[in-house]
Amino acid sequence: MDETTLTARLPQPVAARVQSLKWTDGRVTAILDGSGLGAAERDALETAVKDVLGSAPDVAEVRVAIMADKPVRSGPVIVAVGSGKGGVGKSTLTANLAVALARSGRRVGLVDADVYGPSQPTLLDTEGQRPQAENDKLIPIDSRFGVKMLSMGHLVEPGKALAWRGPMASGAFGQLVDAHWGDTEVLLLDLPPGTGDVQITMLQKHKPAGAVIVSTPQDLALIDAQRAAELFGKGGVPIIGLVENMSGYVCPHCGEASDPFGRGGVEDAAAEAGLPFLGRIPLSLVVREASDAGTPPAAGDGEGADAFHAIAAKLGQWLDQRAGPGSA
Ligand SMILES: Nc1ncnc2c1ncn2[C@@H]1O[C@H](COP(=O)(O)OP(=O)(O)O)[C@@H](O)[C@H]1O
Ligand SMILES: [Mg+2]
Repeated sequence: MDETTLTARLPQPVAARVQSLKWTDGRVTAILDGSGLGAAERDALETAVKDVLGSAPDVAEVRVAIMADKPVRSGPVIVAVGSGKGGVGKSTLTANLAVALARSGRRVGLVDADVYGPSQPTLLDTEGQRPQAENDKLIPIDSRFGVKMLSMGHLVEPGKALAWRGPMASGAFGQLVDAHWGDTEVLLLDLPPGTGDVQITMLQKHKPAGAVIVSTPQDLALIDAQRAAELFGKGGVPIIGLVENMSGYVCPHCGEASDPFGRGGVEDAAAEAGLPFLGRIPLSLVVREASDAGTPPAAGDGEGADAFHAIAAKLGQWLDQRAGPGSA
């Protein structure tokens, strides 16, 4: 009996898991890859190998060892925040989710990957700071909201337009992601708007564990959000859910509610696409003014904070489920 003949007897899905198979004097020793399998599936795999090979001629005994999962990549879980279109509040949402998650006790990092319009230094009040480097790697900047962060805006002179082409953009982005993130649990990526080569390269290189898509309820923004969903789908990045921003406006003077961009469109679009809806953030003067002033609403409890906290809680649930029971 030789190894090839024995392996050939196994059904294809079982054979695909064989890492090594040895036959010596009637005894078969099989080492199988058990990555991604639950206990029941491992048992079934072992039984299948024992049954099939045990009935082969010249085989008296079958020993099976199933290797455990490969150790998971260390480092933070990367969550991308994307939108097909610019100006829909992607950066505002990313900053406030980061601040809200940090407030709930998580170790949070944020990478501002928007080469064309980095706005996180303004949002998180780190304008003008420069990250230090150690062993050729950047050290993230500690914002005063408990969020560590790095932005394209920290790498260039303020006010200088970044007319970088694809390869330079993704090179600089790589430096931000492969920085000294230490024990950071979750790293939020503020992706540049659009669904072009720059975004695709970023996703392929750094493989986020999931993505949040933000859109306004306008039809045009929704079409672009759909493109963003396709982009993540192509990159194999699971979509955590959709967020509706700038939905509904309550006039601070007369209290009258209006819907400048419509309302509920994102929730409908999510339902249609079978994707989770994470919540809506009202269009609010407070949100805009606080953002411009470098005091993210999610850092406080006032108007505008609740919506961000609720969405961050859902993202937290997603992170916990992903980590699975038993992990800290
Ligand atoms: N919910 C909101 N209410 C009021 N203004 C908002 C809201 N969300 C974002 N903005 C404002 O809209 C502008 C664009 O938001 P930004 O987060 O920079 O968008 P993006 O990153 O998608 O280009 C900013 O001036 C921001 O303060
Ligand atoms: Mg932005």
